[in-house]
Amino acid sequence: MMDVIKAIASSIKNSKYAVAFTGAGISSESGIPTYRGEGGLWTKYDPNIYANVYYFNKDPSYYWNFFREVRFPMLKKVKPNKAHIAMAEMDVAGYLKTVITQNIDGLHQEAGSSSVIELHGTTRIIHCMSCSKEYSMDEAFSKLETEIPPRCSECKGKLRPAVVFFGETLDPQILRSAYEEAENCDFILSVGSSLVVFPAADIPVKAKQRGATLVIINKESTPLDHLADHVINEEAGNVLPQIVQSLKES
Ligand code: APR
Repeated sequence: MMDVIKAIASSIKNSKYAVAFTGAGISSESGIPTYRGEGGLWTKYDPNIYANVYYFNKDPSYYWNFFREVRFPMLKKVKPNKAHIAMAEMDVAGYLKTVITQNIDGLHQEAGSSSVIELHGTTRIIHCMSCSKEYSMDEAFSKLETEIPPRCSECKGKLRPAVVFFGETLDPQILRSAYEEAENCDFILSVGSSLVVFPAADIPVKAKQRGATLVIINKESTPLDHLADHVINEEAGNVLPQIVQSLKES
């Protein structure tokens, strides 16, 4: 694997504009389960009930019970892992311009990445669907002690997390800035994504079509592996620190 690591590091070093694209796999070593595959969240919780906008609008209590019992306790205790930290180190060292993430956990920012595009929003902000007042996760959680679904303290409107549910379109401005990154970059590092959810997975595809070098680091193979210049099927927390080390040595 060392030769491939060196080749990737050298490609990053020679690039003018390198970006990363991340998915749930980069946070799995922090203790957050991925969505698909063995032990995946969607194998235990039906996304048509827990992550679908039509269901949320019909009966938000399923989502809020899930938030109270699963999401909130998990996010309260997780910390960025070696992979998030290595990515932030590449940012600080000037190698990585932006992280485009599908994750809603905020761990890239916590690790110190300075430019993060959150394609699917964030669970860390809850807002009122009527007056837009924002609440922290802690505030939303404490509301759940007395009312499910929770209501806005100002206007009694319904609350929702600032995430993109299935059945919703991605924020057009956020999607546009992600596409701009895909068009501008000459190197893209995809980490911990099954690359099956669109339009997100279109970002590495677009980058590759525009001539960027595409590297995929993922525990399992992905449907886009055939497009990649390098594929490493290993844990991100093992691979990314080695890339950082190789960047330091070269
Ligand atoms: N290192 C690298 N890869 C890992 C690791 C790890 N430590 N652990 C798991 N993986 C890989 C898995 O093999 C899997 O292919 O991460 C991938 C995670 O895939 P998904 O669970 O499909 O996550 P993601 O690609 O982010 O899903 C996209 O789907 O439901 C939606 O909105 C949700 O943003 C999410 C989107």
